Formats: sequence, structure tokens, C-alpha cells
Amino acid sequence: MFHTLMRYVVVLVSFCALPLLPTMQAAADTTVISIYSARAPALLQPMLDAYTAKTGVDFNVLYLPDGMAQRLEAEGAATPADIVLTADIIRMAEMDALNIFAALDSPILNANIPAKWRDDDLRWFGLSARARVAAVSKARVGARVEAGALTRLEDLADAKWRGRICSRAGSHPYNRALLASVVAHAGAGAAAKWAEGFVKNLARKPQGNDRAQVSAIHSGRCDVALINTYYYGLMRHNLQDPEQQKWADSVRLVFLNQAGRGQHVNITTAAMLATSDKYDAVVAFLEWLTGAEGQNIYSGINYEYPINPQVTPSAELRSWGAFEADDLPIDEIANNAETAQRIIDRVGW
Ligand SMILES: [Fe+2]
Repeated sequence: MFHTLMRYVVVLVSFCALPLLPTMQAAADTTVISIYSARAPALLQPMLDAYTAKTGVDFNVLYLPDGMAQRLEAEGAATPADIVLTADIIRMAEMDALNIFAALDSPILNANIPAKWRDDDLRWFGLSARARVAAVSKARVGARVEAGALTRLEDLADAKWRGRICSRAGSHPYNRALLASVVAHAGAGAAAKWAEGFVKNLARKPQGNDRAQVSAIHSGRCDVALINTYYYGLMRHNLQDPEQQKWADSVRLVFLNQAGRGQHVNITTAAMLATSDKYDAVVAFLEWLTGAEGQNIYSGINYEYPINPQVTPSAELRSWGAFEADDLPIDEIANNAETAQRIIDRVGW
């Protein structure tokens, strides 16, 4: 009885296996997508691993924290890159100006990404968002902040912060984008006046990355700094370097300009090279990154805000508080980046 049944099962399985064959081949996809990434490996690899596990699509990644636009310009049509990824809008705009990207016409991408966070001509797309907020010393400014001494970016130019602010170099794209948003909203004159006041309040010459500013607050060197939100999460849960947990514990985040234009936000972006022959594979990958699965990795592992409004931020992100984001179209930031850089050079930020 059992053997008869087994023979029946075997016959059934081999019969069914034939029509299934094409599906099984599709699952073992041999596509390899080449990426030039300005994003740090640790902030990209979790997405790539998850996508490879799901689809079989593999990736070649070249990490280029600087000089990607120059490299692409030099390589021209010979570039092996299919996709570029940046950690900010300004560097994407620099590359877009080279006219090297293909338009990706995908209803799914258009639905996943709000119009203000993708190119009008569909040549670049936002993947995740981060707010550049004030981190303040819990020990030394908690009460002052509650009293309303720091609610706007503009407040950091006030003389009450003299000698109390630490900062990354102004010309870093994160700060340049922030200042470009002030130029867009208030004009170059007001932005220059603010930057002058801000630099006057610095406790030391601009130096180090965002985490170094929080470390300086922890050690008592200064009381406030501007940082991207995901660094707070990465420090707070840092198992490799538990010292960073103490840095994060010494500050809290203040979302700025909530009564006015909203908190300045920057985005990470992707674009496909016009020379790539992997249109379908690239579009499918970007659709996945901006869909629920990809966005949950950005939110849960990278501590970045989902770009897709249908995806709820992780519990950790929600615990930092809700905020209103600046609604300025993101290309306005790129448009004002040069003006911002001139101001930064002039005031010595
Ligand atoms: Fe960063």
C-alpha cells in the first residue's frame, strides 16, 4: 500500500517538475548588478544580502565616498557601473548634470516615492530620508531647550550659544545642503548672516564627522551640534564600540523649525547609468528597495526614515518623536548648493 502510494507520489512529482522548470531557473537568477556607492558598506550590505537571498541577483560594489562624478566623467560609456548610490542630494545633482542617467518609467517607483523626493525627469530617485537635527547635551542644555531656547536652526546664531557649538566642516554635503535650504527659504543674505553667527558660536575649529561632534558633547567640549538622525541610532545600538552608546546617551535630539518651515531633511539616492543594459533588473531592484521589505531594512537596521509614506518607521525611530519635514522640493537644495558653498567659504565654516 505504502509503496504504491510512493510510486504515485514520485510519478506525480516528476510530472509536475517539468512545467515548474522555468520558474526554478528564474529563481536562480545569474544577473549581476554593478554599483558605485558613496554610501558606507555597512549601510548598504544588509539590503544587498536580503535582495540576493530573495532573487539570486548578485552585486559588484565599488565604494567611492569621494570623486564619483569625476570618475564617471572620465570613464564615459566604458563605465562598468549600472547604478550609482549617493548619501545626499547634492552629489546626485552633480552627477545628473553630466547627463549620464537613464529615465526609469516605473509606476511602482512613482507610487513608492513622493514627487518631491524624485527627479521630475525620473533620472534619480530618493531611497531613504534623514533629518539633520540638533543634538543637545542632556546634562547642560536640557532645561534651556525645554524653555524654548533652541527650537529653530536660526537660534544657533544667537549669542547665548557662544563657544558652545561643535561642527563638522561646513563644506561637507550634509552642511552645505542644510545651508542651501536656508538660502532657498530666506535668501542668500539671511543665510550668510546666520552662518556668520553660527561660526562665531563654535567652540572649536570645524573638524570630524557627525559622531565626533556627539563625542565632543559627551566629553564636555561643547553643548550642541548638528547631526544626521541615523548616527544617533547607530551610536545608541553600537555593539562593536559600546563607548558610542555613552556618547548617544549624553544627548537628545531636537527637531528644528517645527513651528515654521519644518525640519531640514536630506535623502539618499539612486540612478541608473544610460549605458547600462540591465534596465529591467535595475528597476526591479529599486522597486524592491523602495517597497516595504527594503524600506523596513533602511528603518530597522540603518535607522533611516522610509522614503515611502506607506511604510511606518521602526519603533526606535518613532521613539525619537514625530516631526514635520521641510517640504522644499529637494532639487531646490541642489540648485542653491553653489551659493551655500560660497557663503561657507566666506565665513570660514
Ligand atoms: Fe552619513
